[in-house]
Amino acid sequence: MGSLLHFPEHFVWGAATASYQIEGGYEKGGRGESIWDRFCRTPGKVYNGDTGDVACDHYHRYREDIALMREIGLKGYRFSVAWPRIFPEGRGTLNPAGLDFYDRLVDGLLDAGIQPFVTLYHWDLPQALQDRGGWANRDTVVAFRDYTAAVSERLGDRVAHWITHNEPWVAAFLGHETGMHAPGITDLATAVQVSHHLLLSHGEAVRVLRERGNARTQVGIVCNIAPVQPASESEEDRAAARRFDGYLNRWFLDPVFKGAYPEDMLAWYGDCAPEVQVGDMKAISEKTDFLGVNYYTRSVMAADPEGGFLRIRDVHPENSEYTEMDWEIYPEGLYETLNRVHRDYKAPLLYVTENGAAFSDEVGPDGQVRDPRRKAYLRDHFIQAHRAIQEGIPLAGYFVWSLMDNFEWAHGYSKRFGITYVDYPTQQRILKESGRWVGEVILANGVEA
Ligand code: FCB
Repeated sequence: MGSLLHFPEHFVWGAATASYQIEGGYEKGGRGESIWDRFCRTPGKVYNGDTGDVACDHYHRYREDIALMREIGLKGYRFSVAWPRIFPEGRGTLNPAGLDFYDRLVDGLLDAGIQPFVTLYHWDLPQALQDRGGWANRDTVVAFRDYTAAVSERLGDRVAHWITHNEPWVAAFLGHETGMHAPGITDLATAVQVSHHLLLSHGEAVRVLRERGNARTQVGIVCNIAPVQPASESEEDRAAARRFDGYLNRWFLDPVFKGAYPEDMLAWYGDCAPEVQVGDMKAISEKTDFLGVNYYTRSVMAADPEGGFLRIRDVHPENSEYTEMDWEIYPEGLYETLNRVHRDYKAPLLYVTENGAAFSDEVGPDGQVRDPRRKAYLRDHFIQAHRAIQEGIPLAGYFVWSLMDNFEWAHGYSKRFGITYVDYPTQQRILKESGRWVGEVILANGVEA
């Protein structure tokens, strides 16, 4: 047995989820339609025709789920609010029953000694707003501001940690460039404009949350960040890696932390560059308290004249291990990412807001779920987080993706990321071996090296 690597006192060990992926209850409590409800009903978009109608039925089972969190010993829980529960039409008439649900959830968490980390947008835009152009329409920024105000007014006395957006790159580009996600648009200029509006709405929401919050209020944004490496040392591959880094990482981090889009990407987008109004960049770079890093894998890029508008292709390194998502397991990348964002962007505080792995878990004859590969994945990443902390990087917490198996977007229910197994037909939850092990890490506030 190795030595125990200790984490700082008050380190927030947590798990994360998102509304559409777990709640179900899609027509309950006055909830309106979201773009994911619509997308799931569009033939061919989601694996197996799966939908989030029922998902993990968390809307009805949240008390049981809080008990589960308590059993694991979680100190924090990151969840998202479904905008269509609060404003079924996106704006206008508020639905108090929607707020009541999150009110009860927050109280339940606090009673269990678990700190809530609330994400305001984890991709479930009200369909009514999409019908008016969605995030491509600047008015949606105003609607988001009003929605933020309503949620913060109700929960702000008890919730200290707020996240405006989850992975704006995914919402903008998978939603509007590749069309793999809702609303399924495939137009580069639209995607780039959407990214600008998402960022602008982040800045506006930071202001609203601060104005309505109290001295404890902490506001941040969550980005999916990957270290990008060239497939070779050639000039072309290095430029390809730089472009992908610009597209995925710098396009979002530069405006938030430096108040400007990266010049090389503005030039690359050319006619597709966003329409930016006076004052927008200042609003986007409103000071944030923390950056949430979602880390799963690295990207290795080669130049390819046939490779889409970025003229690149991703390369799968040989002799590496891959998860069910076909994502390379590369724990050092977590350290590299934390180090890089700390160095280049100097966010006052960092959280790992998502990290985890999909494997094809099964319930054994004894009713247990053994997932040694997930446990190894998490252990190796925890060790890299510890390494970052040792070097003085201000990492304050770590949220495992995910508390439980759930609806994995375009993959439907075919990918299991949970540290808890969900048997969908019965909705039974079974804490996996990895989940029990996470509990031990939390108890010891440390991990065996
Ligand atoms: C992230 C998402 C999260 C989940 C994981 C696997 O991109 O934020 O909802 O789907 O990937």
